[in-house]
Amino acid sequence: MNPRDFTPRPGLLADRVIMITGASSGFGRALALACAGAGAGVILCGRNSAKLEGVYDEIEALGAPQPAIALLDLATAVAADYDGLAQIIQNEFGRLDGLVHAAALLGDRSPIEHYDVPTWCKVMHVNLTAPFILTQVLLPSLRKSTDASVIFVSSGVARNQRPFWGAYAVAKTGLESLRDMLSQELEAEANIRVNSVNPGRMRTAMRAAAYPAEDPNTLPAPATVTGVFLYLLSADGRSAQGGYFDAQA
Ligand SMILES: NC(=O)c1ccc[n+]([C@@H]2O[C@H](COP(=O)([O-])OP(=O)(O)OC[C@H]3O[C@@H](n4cnc5c(N)ncnc54)[C@H](OP(=O)(O)O)[C@@H]3O)[C@@H](O)[C@H]2O)c1
Repeated sequence: MNPRDFTPRPGLLADRVIMITGASSGFGRALALACAGAGAGVILCGRNSAKLEGVYDEIEALGAPQPAIALLDLATAVAADYDGLAQIIQNEFGRLDGLVHAAALLGDRSPIEHYDVPTWCKVMHVNLTAPFILTQVLLPSLRKSTDASVIFVSSGVARNQRPFWGAYAVAKTGLESLRDMLSQELEAEANIRVNSVNPGRMRTAMRAAAYPAEDPNTLPAPATVTGVFLYLLSADGRSAQGGYFDAQA
């Protein structure tokens, strides 16, 4: 079976605690709803409390396990914010079974020659450095799980460099390196797997910003590309370690 064809069973993620960054909108929101629908207790991580509360309400309306909200602005968070979040997760849940890094910024679409330096720094920080820090501070909670899964959300531009994608493409390429390195470092720990998934083109605000002339109705909804993610977050994906996956054909 190709993981992209994976169809979740009811209760697939029952009793799992899964944190998703960027859960306020776009793909992160869709994945949060899918994980909750499959029985997970989802920690909705994002920077906008009103949007996160909206997703929280949607999950409650599904009758899914009660979610939690973790407010964290990845552009401005300092060490105490990361440590505080890690401490709360350890105290409240005692472990973390899944961590999905879905939050990201597009930044500028411009030639390197003219790329705005402060924008470059912000995109590199939100898209690459923040996932590194979050993974680092949450490793103790991931180690407490019997079956933990870390997923970095990748992009086609990480493997196929094209002009004008700037810091976004460089950060996504860096995430691939981080995934590879971390999975090798954790090789001896059979209870933690680290993978990356390119969700492919989806009908979201980021895609609309990158391709303003494109008709969004020609794009798949984010909810339709969650299969590989649910596979990797579930016991079914236990043997997947250090891999790169495409969520769409
Ligand atoms: N859409 C595509 O076609 C496509 C293709 C390949 C890969 N991807 C990847 O898929 C993932 C989701 O993208 P998307 O299309 O859903 O994009 P999106 O609609 O723009 O959503 C991005 C998410 O990141 C959050 N975010 C941005 N800056 C943040 C910050 N400083 N702190 C915390 N959260 C922050 C946003 O929060 P707010 O709601 O507060 O803005 C939002 O939840 C990204 O990793 C993206 O690179 C997307």
